[in-house]
Amino acid sequence: MIEEKSPKVIVYGGNGFIGIHASNALITSGASVVCLSRTGHKPLHLKEENWGKDVRWCKGDASKPNIELLKTADVMVCLVGSPPLPTFSRKAYDKQFFANGTACVNAIEGASQAGVKKVILLGAKIPGVMQSKSFAYFAGKQSALRSAKEFASQSESHSSIVIQPGMVTGRRVLDNGKAIRLDWMTSMISPLLPSQFTSVERVAQRIAHAATNIQPYAGRCTVIAGRDI
Ligand SMILES: NC(=O)c1ccc[n+]([C@@H]2O[C@H](COP(=O)([O-])OP(=O)(O)OC[C@H]3O[C@@H](n4cnc5c(N)ncnc54)[C@H](OP(=O)(O)O)[C@@H]3O)[C@@H](O)[C@H]2O)c1
Repeated sequence: MIEEKSPKVIVYGGNGFIGIHASNALITSGASVVCLSRTGHKPLHLKEENWGKDVRWCKGDASKPNIELLKTADVMVCLVGSPPLPTFSRKAYDKQFFANGTACVNAIEGASQAGVKKVILLGAKIPGVMQSKSFAYFAGKQSALRSAKEFASQSESHSSIVIQPGMVTGRRVLDNGKAIRLDWMTSMISPLLPSQFTSVERVAQRIAHAATNIQPYAGRCTVIAGRDI
Protein backbone atom coordinates (compact mmCIF):
# COMPACT_ATOMS: atom_id res chain seq x y z
CA MET A 1 0.00 0.00 0.00
CA ILE A 2 1.32 3.46 -0.97
CA GLU A 3 1.44 5.95 1.91
CA GLU A 4 -0.20 9.34 1.16
CA LYS A 5 2.37 12.16 1.26
CA SER A 6 2.42 15.84 0.40
CA PRO A 7 2.50 17.54 -2.07
CA LYS A 8 0.50 15.28 -4.39
CA VAL A 9 2.10 15.48 -7.81
CA ILE A 10 0.73 14.18 -11.11
CA VAL A 11 3.46 13.71 -13.73
CA TYR A 12 2.43 13.39 -17.38
CA GLY A 13 5.25 11.60 -19.23
CA GLY A 14 6.67 10.26 -15.96
CA ASN A 15 7.82 7.00 -17.59
CA GLY A 16 10.16 8.77 -20.05
CA PHE A 17 13.88 9.57 -19.84
CA ILE A 18 13.49 12.80 -17.83
CA GLY A 19 10.24 11.62 -16.21
CA ILE A 20 11.87 8.67 -14.45
CA HIS A 21 14.62 10.83 -12.93
CA ALA A 22 12.09 13.53 -12.01
CA SER A 23 9.81 10.99 -10.33
CA ASN A 24 12.74 9.61 -8.33
CA ALA A 25 13.72 13.14 -7.21
CA LEU A 26 10.10 13.92 -6.28
CA ILE A 27 9.78 10.75 -4.19
CA THR A 28 13.11 11.54 -2.48
CA SER A 29 11.77 15.04 -1.70
CA GLY A 30 8.79 13.46 0.09
CA ALA A 31 6.11 14.01 -2.56
CA SER A 32 3.34 11.58 -3.46
CA VAL A 33 3.70 10.80 -7.18
CA VAL A 34 1.31 9.52 -9.85
CA CYS A 35 2.98 8.95 -13.24
CA LEU A 36 0.69 9.09 -16.24
CA SER A 37 1.52 8.05 -19.78
CA ARG A 38 -0.48 6.76 -22.75
CA THR A 39 0.79 3.20 -22.23
CA GLY A 40 0.69 3.47 -18.42
CA HIS A 41 3.60 1.07 -18.08
CA LYS A 42 6.14 1.10 -15.28
CA PRO A 43 9.61 0.97 -16.88
CA LEU A 44 10.98 -2.59 -16.64
CA HIS A 45 14.35 -1.56 -15.24
CA LEU A 46 12.64 -0.08 -12.16
CA LYS A 47 11.34 -3.48 -11.10
CA GLU A 48 13.92 -3.82 -8.34
CA GLU A 49 14.06 -0.12 -7.38
CA ASN A 50 12.36 0.63 -4.06
CA TRP A 51 11.44 4.19 -4.98
CA GLY A 52 9.60 2.92 -8.08
CA LYS A 53 7.24 1.00 -5.81
CA ASP A 54 6.19 4.28 -4.15
CA VAL A 55 4.96 5.69 -7.48
CA ARG A 56 1.53 4.96 -8.96
CA TRP A 57 2.02 4.14 -12.67
CA CYS A 58 -1.22 4.71 -14.56
CA LYS A 59 -2.62 5.30 -18.03
CA GLY A 60 -3.40 8.91 -18.89
CA ASP A 61 -3.17 11.06 -21.98
CA ALA A 62 -2.09 14.68 -21.44
CA SER A 63 -4.12 15.75 -24.47
CA LYS A 64 -7.29 14.37 -22.82
CA PRO A 65 -6.67 15.14 -19.15
CA ASN A 66 -8.67 13.34 -16.45
CA ILE A 67 -10.14 16.26 -14.49
CA GLU A 68 -11.36 14.12 -11.58
CA LEU A 69 -7.85 12.72 -11.10
CA LEU A 70 -6.30 16.20 -11.41
CA LYS A 71 -8.63 17.42 -8.64
CA THR A 72 -6.63 15.20 -6.25
CA ALA A 73 -3.32 16.91 -7.14
CA ASP A 74 -1.46 19.90 -5.69
CA VAL A 75 0.97 20.09 -8.61
CA MET A 76 0.77 18.98 -12.26
CA VAL A 77 4.08 18.30 -14.03
CA CYS A 78 3.99 18.01 -17.84
CA LEU A 79 7.00 16.31 -19.42
CA VAL A 80 5.43 15.15 -22.66
CA GLY A 81 6.82 16.04 -26.04
CA SER A 82 8.87 14.62 -28.87
CA PRO A 83 12.46 15.02 -30.13
CA PRO A 84 13.16 18.20 -32.18
CA LEU A 85 12.98 16.57 -35.59
CA PRO A 86 12.49 18.56 -38.80
CA THR A 87 9.17 17.97 -40.58
CA PHE A 88 8.68 17.60 -44.34
CA SER A 89 4.89 17.34 -44.63
CA ARG A 90 1.84 19.06 -43.15
CA LYS A 91 0.92 15.83 -41.38
CA ALA A 92 4.36 15.54 -39.74
CA TYR A 93 4.26 19.23 -38.76
CA ASP A 94 0.85 18.82 -37.11
CA LYS A 95 1.98 15.69 -35.26
CA GLN A 96 5.10 17.43 -33.91
CA PHE A 97 3.05 20.51 -32.94
CA PHE A 98 0.45 18.36 -31.21
CA ALA A 99 3.03 16.44 -29.13
CA ASN A 100 4.91 19.55 -27.96
CA GLY A 101 2.08 22.07 -27.94
CA THR A 102 -1.54 20.88 -27.91
CA ALA A 103 -0.99 17.95 -25.50
CA CYS A 104 0.73 20.27 -22.96
CA VAL A 105 -1.82 23.07 -23.45
CA ASN A 106 -4.68 20.63 -22.83
CA ALA A 107 -2.96 19.27 -19.69
CA ILE A 108 -2.44 22.81 -18.34
CA GLU A 109 -6.04 23.77 -19.10
CA GLY A 110 -7.19 20.56 -17.40
CA ALA A 111 -5.14 21.42 -14.30
CA SER A 112 -6.67 24.87 -14.26
CA GLN A 113 -10.20 23.45 -14.54
CA ALA A 114 -9.46 21.00 -11.71
CA GLY A 115 -8.30 23.78 -9.36
CA VAL A 116 -4.60 22.82 -9.35
CA LYS A 117 -2.54 25.88 -8.34
CA LYS A 118 0.90 24.96 -9.65
CA VAL A 119 2.07 23.55 -12.98
CA ILE A 120 5.59 22.64 -14.05
CA LEU A 121 6.27 22.38 -17.77
CA LEU A 122 9.30 21.03 -19.54
CA GLY A 123 10.10 23.26 -22.49
CA ALA A 124 13.37 23.48 -24.39
CA LYS A 125 16.17 25.99 -24.96
CA ILE A 126 16.08 26.32 -28.73
CA PRO A 127 18.93 28.00 -30.66
CA GLY A 128 18.02 31.35 -32.30
CA VAL A 129 18.31 30.01 -35.86
CA MET A 130 15.64 27.39 -35.11
CA GLN A 131 13.20 29.85 -33.53
CA SER A 132 10.79 29.92 -36.44
CA LYS A 133 7.09 29.12 -36.73
CA SER A 134 7.99 26.78 -39.58
CA PHE A 135 9.82 24.57 -37.03
CA ALA A 136 6.94 22.64 -35.45
CA TYR A 137 8.92 21.76 -32.30
CA PHE A 138 9.53 25.47 -31.57
CA ALA A 139 5.95 26.48 -32.47
CA GLY A 140 4.57 23.74 -30.19
CA LYS A 141 6.83 24.67 -27.25
CA GLN A 142 5.87 28.35 -27.69
CA SER A 143 2.18 27.52 -27.51
CA ALA A 144 2.74 25.47 -24.32
CA LEU A 145 4.76 28.35 -22.84
CA ARG A 146 1.91 30.80 -23.56
CA SER A 147 -0.49 28.46 -21.82
CA ALA A 148 1.80 28.23 -18.74
CA LYS A 149 1.94 32.05 -18.61
CA GLU A 150 -1.85 32.30 -18.83
CA PHE A 151 -2.18 29.69 -16.07
CA ALA A 152 -0.01 31.75 -13.67
CA SER A 153 -1.83 35.00 -14.51
CA GLN A 154 -5.13 33.70 -13.07
CA SER A 155 -4.45 34.73 -9.47
CA GLU A 156 -1.74 35.34 -6.89
CA SER A 157 -2.08 31.75 -5.74
CA HIS A 158 -1.39 30.28 -9.19
CA SER A 159 2.15 29.66 -10.39
CA SER A 160 3.89 27.97 -13.29
CA ILE A 161 7.51 26.99 -13.72
CA VAL A 162 8.84 26.38 -17.22
CA ILE A 163 12.17 24.56 -17.38
CA GLN A 164 14.05 24.92 -20.66
CA PRO A 165 17.14 22.72 -20.98
CA GLY A 166 19.23 22.45 -24.14
CA MET A 167 20.27 18.85 -24.62
CA VAL A 168 19.75 16.69 -21.54
CA THR A 169 22.55 14.22 -20.81
CA GLY A 170 22.50 11.10 -18.67
CA ARG A 171 21.55 7.44 -18.61
CA ARG A 172 18.59 6.64 -20.86
CA VAL A 173 17.29 3.08 -20.54
CA LEU A 174 15.43 1.65 -23.52
CA ASP A 175 12.36 -0.60 -23.31
CA ASN A 176 14.59 -3.67 -23.78
CA GLY A 177 16.55 -2.71 -20.64
CA LYS A 178 19.70 -1.59 -22.51
CA ALA A 179 21.15 1.75 -21.34
CA ILE A 180 22.49 4.54 -23.53
CA ARG A 181 24.98 6.83 -21.77
CA LEU A 182 24.27 10.18 -23.43
CA ASP A 183 26.83 11.83 -21.14
CA TRP A 184 29.63 9.71 -22.66
CA MET A 185 28.51 10.61 -26.14
CA THR A 186 28.37 14.31 -25.40
CA SER A 187 31.35 14.60 -23.05
CA MET A 188 33.61 15.72 -25.91
CA ILE A 189 31.52 18.70 -27.02
CA SER A 190 29.72 19.72 -23.81
CA PRO A 191 32.77 21.60 -22.35
CA LEU A 192 32.76 23.79 -25.50
CA LEU A 193 29.05 24.60 -25.22
CA PRO A 194 28.23 24.24 -21.49
CA SER A 195 25.00 26.25 -21.70
CA GLN A 196 23.59 23.78 -24.27
CA PHE A 197 23.90 20.70 -22.03
CA THR A 198 22.27 19.90 -18.70
CA SER A 199 22.45 16.62 -16.82
CA VAL A 200 19.18 14.77 -16.32
CA GLU A 201 19.83 14.77 -12.57
CA ARG A 202 19.95 18.58 -12.53
CA VAL A 203 16.71 18.86 -14.50
CA ALA A 204 15.08 16.33 -12.13
CA GLN A 205 16.28 18.21 -9.03
CA ARG A 206 14.91 21.47 -10.42
CA ILE A 207 11.52 19.87 -11.06
CA ALA A 208 11.44 18.45 -7.50
CA HIS A 209 12.49 21.82 -6.03
CA ALA A 210 9.80 23.65 -8.01
CA ALA A 211 7.15 21.12 -6.94
CA THR A 212 7.96 21.07 -3.25
CA ASN A 213 8.77 24.76 -2.59
CA ILE A 214 6.20 27.54 -2.60
CA GLN A 215 8.66 30.44 -2.64
CA PRO A 216 10.37 31.68 -4.83
CA TYR A 217 7.87 30.63 -7.52
CA ALA A 218 4.63 31.99 -6.05
CA GLY A 219 2.17 34.03 -8.08
CA ARG A 220 3.94 34.13 -11.43
CA CYS A 221 5.38 32.23 -14.37
CA THR A 222 9.08 31.50 -13.82
CA VAL A 223 11.16 30.46 -16.82
CA ILE A 224 14.45 28.71 -15.99
CA ALA A 225 16.68 28.01 -18.97
CA GLY A 226 20.04 26.44 -19.80
CA ARG A 227 22.77 26.83 -17.19
CA ASP A 228 20.33 28.48 -14.71
CA ILE A 229 18.72 25.07 -14.21
N1 LIG B 1 15.83 14.67 -23.80
C1 LIG B 1 16.32 15.88 -24.07
O1 LIG B 1 17.53 16.06 -24.37
C2 LIG B 1 15.40 17.08 -23.99
C3 LIG B 1 15.94 18.37 -24.09
C4 LIG B 1 15.10 19.46 -23.98
C5 LIG B 1 13.75 19.29 -23.83
N2 LIG B 1 13.23 18.03 -23.77
C6 LIG B 1 11.79 17.87 -23.62
O2 LIG B 1 11.54 17.13 -22.44
C7 LIG B 1 10.37 16.34 -22.60
C8 LIG B 1 10.64 14.91 -22.22
O3 LIG B 1 11.77 14.45 -22.92
P1 LIG B 1 12.28 12.95 -22.75
O4 LIG B 1 13.61 12.90 -23.41
O5 LIG B 1 12.10 12.52 -21.35
O6 LIG B 1 11.22 12.20 -23.69
P2 LIG B 1 10.74 10.67 -23.65
O7 LIG B 1 11.79 9.79 -23.08
O8 LIG B 1 10.20 10.36 -25.00
O9 LIG B 1 9.54 10.70 -22.60
C9 LIG B 1 8.32 11.30 -22.89
C10 LIG B 1 7.25 10.42 -22.24
O10 LIG B 1 5.99 11.07 -22.40
C11 LIG B 1 4.99 10.09 -22.62
N3 LIG B 1 4.00 10.77 -23.44
C12 LIG B 1 4.10 11.22 -24.71
N4 LIG B 1 2.96 11.81 -25.10
C13 LIG B 1 2.11 11.72 -24.05
C14 LIG B 1 0.77 12.14 -23.82
N5 LIG B 1 0.06 12.78 -24.77
N6 LIG B 1 0.21 11.90 -22.61
C15 LIG B 1 0.89 11.25 -21.64
N7 LIG B 1 2.17 10.82 -21.79
C16 LIG B 1 2.76 11.07 -22.99
C17 LIG B 1 5.68 8.92 -23.33
O11 LIG B 1 5.17 7.67 -22.86
P3 LIG B 1 3.96 6.92 -23.62
O12 LIG B 1 4.42 6.67 -25.01
O13 LIG B 1 3.74 5.70 -22.79
O14 LIG B 1 2.79 7.86 -23.56
C18 LIG B 1 7.14 9.06 -22.89
O15 LIG B 1 7.50 8.09 -21.92
C19 LIG B 1 9.92 16.55 -24.04
O16 LIG B 1 8.93 17.57 -24.06
C20 LIG B 1 11.16 17.06 -24.74
O17 LIG B 1 10.82 17.88 -25.85
C21 LIG B 1 14.02 16.92 -23.84
